[in-house]
Amino acid sequence: MSPFQLTRTLPEDATDTALRADVLNGLPQSLKTLPPKWFYDARGSALFEQITALDEYYPTRAEREILLARADEIASVTGARTLIELGSGSSDKTRHLLDELPDLDMYVPVDVSESALVQAGRALAAERPALRVHGQIVDFTTGLLLPPTQGPRLVAFLGGTLGNLLPAERAVFLSSVREFLEPGDALLLGVDLVKDESVLLAAYDDAAGVTAEFNKNVLSVINRELGADFNTDAFVHVAWWDATNEWIEMRLRSRKAQTVKVPVLDLAVDFAAGEEMRTEISAKFRPSGLAAELAAVDLQLEHWWTDSLQRYGLALATPVTAHPRPSRSSAAGSELP
Ligand code: SAH
Ligand code: TRP
Repeated sequence: MSPFQLTRTLPEDATDTALRADVLNGLPQSLKTLPPKWFYDARGSALFEQITALDEYYPTRAEREILLARADEIASVTGARTLIELGSGSSDKTRHLLDELPDLDMYVPVDVSESALVQAGRALAAERPALRVHGQIVDFTTGLLLPPTQGPRLVAFLGGTLGNLLPAERAVFLSSVREFLEPGDALLLGVDLVKDESVLLAAYDDAAGVTAEFNKNVLSVINRELGADFNTDAFVHVAWWDATNEWIEMRLRSRKAQTVKVPVLDLAVDFAAGEEMRTEISAKFRPSGLAAELAAVDLQLEHWWTDSLQRYGLALATPVTAHPRPSRSSAAGSELP
């Protein structure tokens, strides 16, 4: 079997520290919020995989259709030696890219979910003995501290995960991607598109209730990690379309007045009956808006592909100016072997 390596750039307790900070900041606000990365423990990652197979959840199938149709074009345009994938999850659709990139010798899946990384990385390394697979447990919202790799690099960010960041967070994230890219590198970005509200709502509130389970899983994560006493049955999954911001918002609504305790933070959080807590947004894009967000961070939308039903878009963007990125002496590790 070819080697699969896993690197944790963050200290072991970083996750715990970050979760504590997010709970401490997010729950006492007037609109309670939690950042979406906490959905993805082993159970959350498995539930997300179930979501991708639901009839109502079209984004995964639409993105797969585009990747299958365009992987050879992406290969010839980028000539990638290294594929770095942010929020790689199961890396399932990525296989269509791996199949078509003839010069690729390293795949670097990046995720906060160790369980997803290990499962995907081991399987891929076993399937493709010639490919070096080096997983990185990294939070992509805190700067891209990745070891240097050989160019040309293709950075893939699929699954519509860009839409899970708020506009200001997106700008910071995209600019960190731009900083990471060198001349000749490219960014491959999968985004869901603005469309009929009923189609969108069904995708985030499926009949079988898998999305509801997934949404509530964040409460179980906080219970387990911080000893909180959320009763998941006392919250209802809510998905609604914010037409002004053009995003789907996922919330958890308290069925009754209740107080949740988080002992390690010395925190007691009151929920009014019917009070909602925001757990995630999933922004939907228009090509012009996306091109503008990219241009704002010195990235140019070079190619734009959609699926046959125009539900989903895949963008290939490249740096505009030819300045090399600043030295990354602070980056973790040295050049990968
Ligand atoms: N790319 C896959 C998975 C999408 S789900 C697909 O298209 O199906 C989003 C993935 O991003 C999950 O695996 C989750 O663990 C990861 N993720 C979410 N927030 C993250 C963050 N801040 N840093 C790194 N990974 C993150
Ligand atoms: N990136 C996915 C999306 O925005 C994540 C996702 C799908 C999700 N379904 C969800 C997040 C339900 C929270 C709840 O489509």
